[in-house]
Amino acid sequence: MEITNVMEYEKIAKEKLPKMVYDYYASGAEDQWTLQENRNAFSRILFRPRILIDVSKIDVSTTVLGFNISMPIMVAPTAMQKMAHPDGELATARATSAAGTIMTLSSWATCSVEEVASTGPGIRFFQLYVYKDRNVVRQLVKRAEEAGFKAIALTVDTPRLGRRESDIKNRFALPRGLTLKNFEGLDLGKIDKTNDSGLASYVAGQVDQSLSWKDIKWLQSITSLPILVKGVITAEDARIAVEYGAAGIIVSNHGARQLDYVPATIMALEEVVKAVEGRLPVFLDGGVRRGTDVFKALALGASGVFVGRPSLFSLAADGEAGVRKMLQMLRDEFELTMALSGCRSLREISRNHIKTDWDFPHYLPAKL
Ligand code: FNR
Repeated sequence: MEITNVMEYEKIAKEKLPKMVYDYYASGAEDQWTLQENRNAFSRILFRPRILIDVSKIDVSTTVLGFNISMPIMVAPTAMQKMAHPDGELATARATSAAGTIMTLSSWATCSVEEVASTGPGIRFFQLYVYKDRNVVRQLVKRAEEAGFKAIALTVDTPRLGRRESDIKNRFALPRGLTLKNFEGLDLGKIDKTNDSGLASYVAGQVDQSLSWKDIKWLQSITSLPILVKGVITAEDARIAVEYGAAGIIVSNHGARQLDYVPATIMALEEVVKAVEGRLPVFLDGGVRRGTDVFKALALGASGVFVGRPSLFSLAADGEAGVRKMLQMLRDEFELTMALSGCRSLREISRNHIKTDWDFPHYLPAKL
């Protein structure tokens, strides 16, 4: 079957992958309300396209933290990509570089920062989980910096792992032969079978639950890389992130895998954007599956978006070629959305190009 949209990769991935792996990638926390809402909320935003504008030339390129990239669509950190495909994070890195955009490498990658760097040039960010053992963190950040990573995306929504029930039922563990490569030599690379989710036990053992705002300062003292705070979904925290010198905010609910019944990220975005008053860039991840979603996020003030599961499912379906095609399809759809809305550059995308159901509660039927 010819793939014509990003979502179609999920079905192929489901057929190809062992149940434990597919479930780990696909799941959200508990009732998975937020998981559905991350998608549903996009469908409550409609367009107000402008017509008769010369759209014969469209520029989708942008700048993120001073780096020029081909489009405002980037790859979110997702753990353990060798479970999806033998090439794992290396394939994702190659495909993302080929697309001219940014990959974020997970702390829990099955390839090391050095291995990913060896795939060739590319702008890459490193996602950080802060371990109880701060020496481990110090070393890891240093290695990422030396390997040429350009920013740290500090994940702040995971003091404990969200309750993902299929991982509990499947007794999730990292398949034999794979390790969390960044921690291999430190003897922290294994996620063993337990009578729970192996990952939840791992997090409980290793991740520092005492992480707090002062640690942003600590992180700034051990690295000169800019720090993006990933997992902010309120105006209050957005203001504190500005105070603490964050380089940017990623509005994220961790793909609905942490606290269930938080709003869809696309609904939380605008309050965060308003709170930061342009002092730093705001990005979004969660449920982005269409070029129209990208446009809606930008219209609400995002400087760019990240995709998580689409990269895993396209990787599982077709390796590097799959991830390339996934990014190309999103880019093409986004460019088409711009043309049909009368926008020729990202600067022209405005709040007036969309209408949300919270602007006009009676504009849309209560249930779509
Ligand atoms: C994630 N995410 C994630 N985030 C992070 O900071 N570190 C990580 O290691 C992971 N690992 C991870 C694994 C899997 C299987 C998923 C689905 C997600 C969250 C990720 O960065 C991002 O926030 C979401 O995936 C975005 O939502 P979508 O695009 O998957 O809907």
